[in-house]
Amino acid sequence: MSTPFYQINSQEAYDKAYQNSTQNPEMFWESIAETFKWKKRWTQVLESDFIKPDVKWFVNGELNITENCIDRHLENQGNKTAIIWEPNNPNDEVRSYSYAELAKEVNKFSNILKENGITKGDRVCIYLPMIPEAAFAMLACARVGAIHSVVFAGFSAKALSDRIIDAEAKMVITSDGLVRGTKKLLLRNIVADAVQNCPSIQTVLTVKHTGDNVNTNHLDVWYHEAYEKASEAFEAETMNSEDELFILYTSGSTGKPKGVVHTTGGYMVYADYSFRNVFQYEGDDVFWCTADVGWITGHSYIVYGPLLAGSTCVMFEGIPTYPEPDRFWQVVEKHKVNQFYTAPTAIRALMACGDHHADKYEMDSLKVIGSVGEPINEEAWNWYNEKIGRGKAALVDTWWQTETGGIMISNLGKIGIHKATHAGLPLPGIQPVLLTAEGKLIEENNQEGLLAVKFPWPSMIRTTWGDHERCRQVYFSAFENHYFTGDGAKRDENGLYRIIGRVDDVINVSGHRLGTAEVENAINEHPQVIESAVVGYPHDIKGQGIYAYVICSETARKDDAMRKEMEAIVSDVIGRIAKPDKIQFVTGLPKTRSGKIMRRILRKIADGTSDSLGDVSTLLDPSVVDSIIEGKV
Ligand code: WT7
Repeated sequence: MSTPFYQINSQEAYDKAYQNSTQNPEMFWESIAETFKWKKRWTQVLESDFIKPDVKWFVNGELNITENCIDRHLENQGNKTAIIWEPNNPNDEVRSYSYAELAKEVNKFSNILKENGITKGDRVCIYLPMIPEAAFAMLACARVGAIHSVVFAGFSAKALSDRIIDAEAKMVITSDGLVRGTKKLLLRNIVADAVQNCPSIQTVLTVKHTGDNVNTNHLDVWYHEAYEKASEAFEAETMNSEDELFILYTSGSTGKPKGVVHTTGGYMVYADYSFRNVFQYEGDDVFWCTADVGWITGHSYIVYGPLLAGSTCVMFEGIPTYPEPDRFWQVVEKHKVNQFYTAPTAIRALMACGDHHADKYEMDSLKVIGSVGEPINEEAWNWYNEKIGRGKAALVDTWWQTETGGIMISNLGKIGIHKATHAGLPLPGIQPVLLTAEGKLIEENNQEGLLAVKFPWPSMIRTTWGDHERCRQVYFSAFENHYFTGDGAKRDENGLYRIIGRVDDVINVSGHRLGTAEVENAINEHPQVIESAVVGYPHDIKGQGIYAYVICSETARKDDAMRKEMEAIVSDVIGRIAKPDKIQFVTGLPKTRSGKIMRRILRKIADGTSDSLGDVSTLLDPSVVDSIIEGKV
């Protein structure tokens, strides 16, 4: 079989594919879509309106994505390993599933969903640790036509219940407990708190994992009990190309997380295409992405992309520092990982623990090492490249977002110019632009601007669940006929993109995306808090840390005990990931005469550059600035 032209394995192939993809995008994507298993072919490749927005790919096509992730591989590679599960504790047993075994697990799971009343279009919330059942659950939802909404199992009961309510989920799938490093969480008990206020929930399906005693009630079905009785055959539901595949909640600049909606056909095509090309996956390579399935990276590059491509994929339950800060490298050696994909925050944390942890291991299987989630600073890039890649593996810095569904800007393995802190060129099919704040196109290189995309791509966001206007307003109203990313970027003399970071009120803490308003709302729940303002500041390990300025009532104690109380509330309302790193008690906040908080000033104070504040005379009360600078923590 000749290599399809989109299997891009040289600079020339890239140039040619890029040119094809812009000259005739529909032909380009159609030829890729043709490599999948469809139940009915599309009548039109693309229908697009970036104003409403209303974008449809492979219009009227019918398929089930799980037939592409599983069934179509059975004939030629049923015995190939699909998933290698590496447990939290290195002494526990590794679990592996071939494609044939995966088929059996997903079919059984699909039957369990069906027997418990889940049908096409229903929403199912998944709140699970990193265990194979998380992947089976997602695929089973897709197989029965239900829309999954995975919620990261680090979010609190309150955050979970908000997401269940917004999606009106009928079922939540969880486990008794979760272990990460030495920490344990009883997920079923958190779910019990969450579903008290969720009338839509009819069933809590619980996987036995840690064996802990947990509270159950009339809603409970134990997975292992249902499993015994479930049949191993299940006919995949027929889905329209534009039927919703999943909802994934992510933070924006308002207090309420939004449910990003991805649909079936386009997401499938792009997840597979981007996976194969960015990681240059081939043959029996072993791929490992360390993300959690609760984030988009886990959706696209642990579950859908790798399985669509028929790859062998490692799934890891634990954390990089347990039992020792060499765990990643030990696992790379153990499973002879060929492509490794992780986040800058993990790289920085491990770098800080010393080179000897990495030096101990062979790791000569590595061909491509990837970075995702936030800008990777030069020092971390160099360390990753030298200590892990060892001048042999190609480092890919992949820029994308929950909303884009797949990697948008990145080198493709060895192809491209590998330059520290630069993501590189767009994938063929992706047309990014830099705009000025006024929306003027910046055509020259060596310029900085706002990053937007001017042409639709198959895995782009379709809507925000239950609130299409929000989707229009956030992503499609800033610049006419463009998707706006919310990021600022710079293009160098060779056209390589360097992502600078968010230009909105979103902060990126250890690769986790949080809205400043969300954190403020949580802090404000403390009865003695009058007002708060949260900004991000540079943090050595986390990328950004959370700095909170808080005005408390006069009678409140302004001490560490009070700080702890506020932290506890944030953990309750959102989750531990959102706990402020620094809390400063202030008596006032810098506001304009119209009452708007000048976050620019607060950011400068937090990052220690308050000597360049600029003009503060337009503030309602300029004197608060000096007192805030004095009290900096
Ligand atoms: C935001 C999206 C993409 C999956 C994980 C995060 C930042 C992402 C990079 C990168 C610089 C990056 C952007 C983006 N970001 N990748 N390689 N270099 N910044 O997904 O939670 O939707 O966050 O993460 O600011 O907008 P997300």
